[in-house]
Amino acid sequence: MRKGCIVTVMCLVFGAIAMNGLAFAHGMEKHDKATMDDVQMKKLHSMMPMFSEVSAKLETALEKKNIVAVEAEAGKLLKSVPDLKKSKPHKNIKQRKKYVELATNLEMAVNHTVSLAQKSDFAGAKVAFKKVEEACAACHTKFRD
Ligand code: HEC
Repeated sequence: MRKGCIVTVMCLVFGAIAMNGLAFAHGMEKHDKATMDDVQMKKLHSMMPMFSEVSAKLETALEKKNIVAVEAEAGKLLKSVPDLKKSKPHKNIKQRKKYVELATNLEMAVNHTVSLAQKSDFAGAKVAFKKVEEACAACHTKFRD
């Protein structure tokens, strides 16, 4: 009888520890995810001013038909596209597929602009650059404003 009693108490104690552990692990997981989201939102926030500076420089470079500068500025945007795809907006945060799609549209528009400039088609490149600006705006409409 006494032994049984001890076993029961032990089971209860271990059971309680195990359940607590689970709850703890669960809590941590939630916390980690929120922190990750936060990091990705901060990342986006710090990336965007660079985007606006670089796209202004890209536009000037197209105006001046300066292919070296066009490639350099476009390169900065293209280099940060993978980070943009990983980043998280504050608004419509669940619509990841759409978010990545809009980042891909930006990437394609930048690539198109550069390839026309490389063929010395600066008039065409300027038209293509309008699509870059539209890609910025499309994402802002959905995920920022
Ligand atoms: C895939 C989505 C996406 C694309 C593409 C995008 N942005 Fe943004 N941008 C955002 C989001 C979301 C915010 C709001 C950030 C925040 O709330 O921290 C933002 C904010 C900004 C801001 C305000 C600064 C800030 O951090 O709030 C500027 C300026 C900006 N973007 C410029 C640009 C330019 C220029 C381009 C194109 C070359 C561009 N963005 C492309 C999603 C995007």
